[in-house]
Amino acid sequence: MNHPRSAELSSQKWTLQYPELGTDPVPHSVNTSAAYFEKEREKLFKRTWLFLCRDDELPRPGCYVVKQVAILETSVLLARGNDGIIRAFHNSCRHRGNKVVMGGGEKSGESKGFICGFHGWTYDLQGKLKNIVDEEDFFDIDKSKLGLKPIHCGVWRGFIFINAMDTPHETLEEALGQWGRDVAAFPFENFELVNVYSANIRCNWKIALDAFQENYHVQTLHGRSAAAALNSKSNPFGHLLDVRLFPEGHRQAALPANLSFEPAPAVQMAVKYAGGANVYAYSDSSQRKISGANRTGSSDWSFDLNVIFPHVQLIVSDAFVLTQHYWPVSVDETYWELRQYLPISTSVAGRIAQQNSQAALRDVIREDLVTLENTQTVLRSGAITHMQLCDSEITVRHSYYKVDERINAPD
Ligand code: FES
Ligand SMILES: [Fe+2]
Repeated sequence: MNHPRSAELSSQKWTLQYPELGTDPVPHSVNTSAAYFEKEREKLFKRTWLFLCRDDELPRPGCYVVKQVAILETSVLLARGNDGIIRAFHNSCRHRGNKVVMGGGEKSGESKGFICGFHGWTYDLQGKLKNIVDEEDFFDIDKSKLGLKPIHCGVWRGFIFINAMDTPHETLEEALGQWGRDVAAFPFENFELVNVYSANIRCNWKIALDAFQENYHVQTLHGRSAAAALNSKSNPFGHLLDVRLFPEGHRQAALPANLSFEPAPAVQMAVKYAGGANVYAYSDSSQRKISGANRTGSSDWSFDLNVIFPHVQLIVSDAFVLTQHYWPVSVDETYWELRQYLPISTSVAGRIAQQNSQAALRDVIREDLVTLENTQTVLRSGAITHMQLCDSEITVRHSYYKVDERINAPD
């Protein structure tokens, strides 16, 4: 599925170019059904390459990160070995299964290895079992066979993915497909992490993702914030400039910008003195060649909204990069984590501009978060059985279609 919108088709709807999606209302029961959630766990998340985090979380040999991944029913230990390679393990001791790095939530640090706090077994950064306390007291024990249980791990452009299958059906490269080949050209190395937000939200992971993967809501929910910078007189509802839906499940939508929008004086200052690193100040994008983004070279482009299947939003532009994880916890709970990256800045002016961008994003994200639990709580009534989706919500439609395809695939 890769159908660029040609000039002749420009008056037609995106959704009609992907007839497999249909145009019918989409059932909502998949957001409230515990049985469907368990199928998502077993047939989708446990069998798919999942983006876990960026490699900037483990910058040096010895750095480690622990993520509790409820949907995989495990705790994942990532460690960068002395050889510089990042490996993933089940964070579970081979003696009696205790967490080698104990506790809930996210953990990180730097170490020469790991010591299980229960009976003191030790492992090196490569996961090898190094020492058993009172080894002679065991029976025919072979340390070489009792390293930490590995999880398949792959890195694409600094993005660390894991796959919980014993033998993945496909390589990470195959799973990323054409989407990965195209977006690989984006200069992620020019950006630095400036902000992290996270929260446990009482809604299904798809409800959360949906709210961030369409822009039909901009004119209402962001009517007093982002709307003026994105929607214009000629495109009042922010119709998408480009849409690509990929067979592997990923998707990409190019959002418009309002080039007539006049940013607030503080934003204009930030742009003037810090090279345009701002969320709400868009200029003619056809004059700026941005590798791996704005594929059609549109002049009124703001950013590309990508979804890395199944559960991560990746926004790229020359002004900012965002990742948002929507980790399923239960049928009506999601662990949401946002990471905001901005162009690397070493000047004072650049730092101030970054603060300006962070404040703008915080305000708009706060608006986005409002609907999530409001939607989920009333869905439980069962009164609303279907979603009515317009053409601008094609990404939402594609999301349900691809999840359902996996759920219904033969074992
Ligand atoms: S469970 Fe880890 S040493 Fe016993
Ligand atoms: Fe939004």
